[in-house]
Amino acid sequence: AKKVRPAELRLQAPQSARDLIQDECRSLVLSNQQLKRLMAAMEKSMEEGLATSTKKVAVKMLPTYVDSVPNGTERGDFLALDLGGTNFRVLHIRLDGTPQAEMRGKIFRVPESIMRGSGEALFDHIADCMAKFMEENGLRKDVKLPLGFTFSFPCAQQGLTKGKLISWTKGFKASGVEGSDVVTLLREACHRRKDIDIDVVALLNDTVGTLMACAFQENTCQIGVIVGTGTNACYMERMDRIPKLAGYVDEHDHTPEEMIINTEWGAFGDDGTMHFCRTKWDDQVDRESINPGQQLYEKMISGMYMGEVVRVILEDLARKNLLFCGNFEAISKAHCFPTKFVSEIDQDLIDSEQDDANFQKTYQILEDIGIETVSSSDCANVAYVCSLVSTRAAHLTAAGIAMLLNRMNKRMVTVGVDGSVYRFHPTYPKLLDEKIDELIVGDIEYQLMLSEDGSGRGAALVAAVATRIKAEKLA
Ligand code: GLC
Repeated sequence: AKKVRPAELRLQAPQSARDLIQDECRSLVLSNQQLKRLMAAMEKSMEEGLATSTKKVAVKMLPTYVDSVPNGTERGDFLALDLGGTNFRVLHIRLDGTPQAEMRGKIFRVPESIMRGSGEALFDHIADCMAKFMEENGLRKDVKLPLGFTFSFPCAQQGLTKGKLISWTKGFKASGVEGSDVVTLLREACHRRKDIDIDVVALLNDTVGTLMACAFQENTCQIGVIVGTGTNACYMERMDRIPKLAGYVDEHDHTPEEMIINTEWGAFGDDGTMHFCRTKWDDQVDRESINPGQQLYEKMISGMYMGEVVRVILEDLARKNLLFCGNFEAISKAHCFPTKFVSEIDQDLIDSEQDDANFQKTYQILEDIGIETVSSSDCANVAYVCSLVSTRAAHLTAAGIAMLLNRMNKRMVTVGVDGSVYRFHPTYPKLLDEKIDELIVGDIEYQLMLSEDGSGRGAALVAAVATRIKAEKLA
């Protein structure tokens, strides 16, 4: 008889579901080599974006017309509107020259029917909420407070108070807004109701608010990043590296040295440059989304999609009989696995490693989804998939931030970060930080800093800086 050698034995041993799942999921693990390739591709895309404002490019690199950060002396009363995530907020902010801005606000839901209805209805809703807030807070409607409008979608700005929406992202699709100036739409909605008038002094992206809010406390802050419903970054770029702004002077005939650029990096890869690190599951999530072919980098990272990526992987594994005894019905329901579950299950994985809690939470979640045949190894395997997808998200974001740090090549840069994924996922911030550290080159230092409520405070700060500079120039 033929002697069986140990190597063959190993090959013939039945593979556990985990081994097979590991094989299936190999493409979710990105090596540093792949991440460096991604960084090079992203920088190239950014240079294309900086070169032109007319040609269609993936990474738009939008000028923000914000060229100075707060100096800490800003004061005054401001209104801020914040549209761009799951909620709409109205805020009243009082700056008194200390980092502790006094702030009160109200959150309003934006129903899906309004997100995807007519633009007019959307802006009427915004004006409505604003009027309610002013009434409830005893603010006089005939006194126009300077207003900062955080509108977190790609806008082609023509100045600090003017910007056309290029395309909706993050599930919004209100008609008649793309191509229009959103400040005008807001003003018109206020006029329609007649009782409020507004003085918009700044239109800004949430990343810019995040940078500004962080810079108010830490003057080395030069990058603002959001990892929430969507993902995006802005940073201080040298004017001499923004060819599309060649010859730019502000209204005082002054050319600034730098300007904050809103990268809109969520659309990185929309021209196919990310093919080497995408998976069939990413393609599926994109195909089944409201904006196929758009925001491909965002769809691998942010809160609107991370849970859905996990879900389509779990469905695939269940269909291959590697999970839930092949019961794939319940997990096949689109969007039944929100990103919140990824955070909770990743937390469960940590707890289970520490004190043998045995995936109670994970079990609960899977049962609530309606999967009836969950074993303990299923729980461990689901947690494994969650950790792969969230780790990949952190590493992809790290590549983006490290690329910016390397490009800026400054000695010390603080990166202001905000967003639900950064705030609530248990390991994301640490994974992000560790990977940036591995990917930066040369003699640069950085720190990540949670930027508390940049969209709100930041809006007031941009408004305040604009007001201060105007006053200084007039004086
Ligand atoms: C989306 C938007 C972008 C925003 C980001 C984070 O990517 O296009 O403008 O900054 O989400 O909210």
